[in-house]
Amino acid sequence: PIPVILDCDPGHDDAMAILLAVANPAIDLRAVSTVAGNQTVEKTALNARRMLSLAGVTGVPVAAGCDRPLTGTLEVGDYVHGESGLDGPAFGEPDVPLDPRHGVELIHDTLAAADEPVTIVAIGPLTNIATLLRRHPEDRERIREIVIMGGSTERGNHTPYAEFNIVTDPEAAAEVLDSGVPTTWVGLNVSHQALVTPDVLDRISALGTPLARVCVELLTFFGSSYHQAWGFEAPPLHDPITIAYLIDPQVMTYARVGLRIEVEGRYTRGATVADLHSRMDWEPNANVGLILDRDRFWDLMIGAIERLGAP
Ligand code: BDR
Ligand code: CA
Repeated sequence: PIPVILDCDPGHDDAMAILLAVANPAIDLRAVSTVAGNQTVEKTALNARRMLSLAGVTGVPVAAGCDRPLTGTLEVGDYVHGESGLDGPAFGEPDVPLDPRHGVELIHDTLAAADEPVTIVAIGPLTNIATLLRRHPEDRERIREIVIMGGSTERGNHTPYAEFNIVTDPEAAAEVLDSGVPTTWVGLNVSHQALVTPDVLDRISALGTPLARVCVELLTFFGSSYHQAWGFEAPPLHDPITIAYLIDPQVMTYARVGLRIEVEGRYTRGATVADLHSRMDWEPNANVGLILDRDRFWDLMIGAIERLGAP
């Protein structure tokens, strides 16, 4: 299995990524760090513990990392994920404890303890990862790849040109991109192909387990937010595509292209600029996702919920 550290800000789609990561035997989830993004870092850490508890996984450490972006102030995604960051279902007290370490140090310790390079999957703002690379530049050699949900080859969501994870901390995203560690980017152009349509919800409901019911409640809340904020008929399940791609690279096609993060921009700060047609004379520096194989993706995601059963 692929050793993975998951850096996240749950978040409804992050919650589903956690389930996929713990359920699929191709992934060896070593640690979960959380970051401020969809909600405050305290809330995202609580939500990660809630999801691991629901999945019946108690052996994976969870720690809270950076509580704000490298520059500027935090603007949470409560208009999508609600006051708790995971609105919809009612949760009990999690039985997964909060690791006392700072999330960045949990990542560092996990990399140091591994006997092979570890893949980092980053599905929130990139503040923790940029901070890790600033504090522990030697850790670059211990990271196999960073798979990121962020940006788009097209337009944005939080602002017309910028996607939420990137615009929340554009400096962090630029530092990670320029760090020399290989990166693969799953942007909105890919995740908007993973819509939770009624047939998907029906398949999850049909599993009939308590976990499946929680998932349906989460996805229903998420769907109503997306409808309200952007008029979507069905919400895009962004984050789990990163994990699905690691499990089965055929889930998504990608191109190796020149990529830049707009950190200035009067109206476009946080935009990702992917030079898909080599107009800019940039050296290709990143793998950028293009087309999703929806059937493969949903089979993996729904299969994970099924496999976790009724813990
Ligand atoms: C990203 O922002 C968050 O709302 C989601 O969890 C996802 O990581 C999509 O723009
Ligand atoms: Ca997220």
